[in-house]
Amino acid sequence: MSHNFSSAELEKRCAIIEACLEMNHLGINQGTSGNISVRHENYLLITPTSIPYKQLKPESIVRMEMDGSVHGSLKPSSEWRFHLDILNARPEVNAVVHAHPTYSTIISIMGMEIPAIHYMIAVAGGENIRCAPYATFGTEELSQHALKALEGRKACLLEHHGIIAVGANLSKALWLAVEVETLAKQYHGVLQLGKPRILSHDQMAGIIEKISNYGHVD
Ligand code: 13P
Repeated sequence: MSHNFSSAELEKRCAIIEACLEMNHLGINQGTSGNISVRHENYLLITPTSIPYKQLKPESIVRMEMDGSVHGSLKPSSEWRFHLDILNARPEVNAVVHAHPTYSTIISIMGMEIPAIHYMIAVAGGENIRCAPYATFGTEELSQHALKALEGRKACLLEHHGIIAVGANLSKALWLAVEVETLAKQYHGVLQLGKPRILSHDQMAGIIEKISNYGHVD
């Protein structure tokens, strides 16, 4: 197999592998759960299904056309459907991170969204982080639920499953995934203490715009 990737594509393939290792190192994912895609020119680069991240090489990353066709011998992530649909539907998004972080997944198992318990909720684009209803992993149904939960947002929970975080580039999407898990951890903690106190619409007014000037946020 020849690997005549341009230097820009090689850089993105390496960045995907680094981000996968980083997800597990940061504790927001474990094992081969989770997957990452990045837009490159008019196609996408996506992690292969079920291969331990430590074994990934630049050529292991699968090239997928925007119609879903793939090149090479490795199969794309079983979640390619929502990666492709998000990148097709959201031109401002260039990277999609999917992970199974413990606290976000706990909240998703309860079918709950994360409300405005902290002003940092605004980094996901609104006053809440929605939870997409359950559907079997890898299905178009899950993809449709995820797209809806991501409307006007850069992150969502997936019921009984995990999270999706998107961004203008991979480092922003990975950063956001960590922020979502931090909010989920805070929310989980608050729920132990009683009825959560939620920031009001008035208190949140202006925060979304203000926070858009914050470094990692698009
Ligand atoms: P893949 O190994 O196929 O990417 O699947 C992992 C996963 O998280 C499914 O939701």
